[in-house]
Amino acid sequence: MNRRKFITTGCIACTGLGFLSTVIQSCAAVKYSTGVLNENGILIDVKDFETKNGVRNYVIVRHDDLQFPICVYKIDEINYSALLMRCTHQGAELQVAGDQLTCPAHGSEFDKWGKVTQSPAAENLRSFPVSIAGNQLFIDLRKKV
Ligand code: FES
Repeated sequence: MNRRKFITTGCIACTGLGFLSTVIQSCAAVKYSTGVLNENGILIDVKDFETKNGVRNYVIVRHDDLQFPICVYKIDEINYSALLMRCTHQGAELQVAGDQLTCPAHGSEFDKWGKVTQSPAAENLRSFPVSIAGNQLFIDLRKKV
């Protein structure tokens, strides 16, 4: 193998490894919780926001009895934002990308409080009150914020 081919092959391999590492880290960063559903809402563990190195920004709650997942953002130590991941434009399931939720159908975007930041959606996301009960968060599904 000549020097040029060695360098080219090595660069491609390193780039591929870097990309793979990024993909694995981003997948590992997303935390899913099923929570515990009762007649009024759903409970999740506050520890779901903890990581080995600190705190994660959000947890996605997926439960078989919920039609859409709920994204719970940690705003600060006592404030959380719980958002139904259903686009208000035509009802597609949203994807979470850091501090925003994006719609794969037509490109609407929402911030971590559920406010529309990019049309075509015109209405903010449905959000639910969140209260802290010991080591758990209670997401009240009876009320909209
Ligand atoms: S359904 Fe989300 S932008 Fe159309």
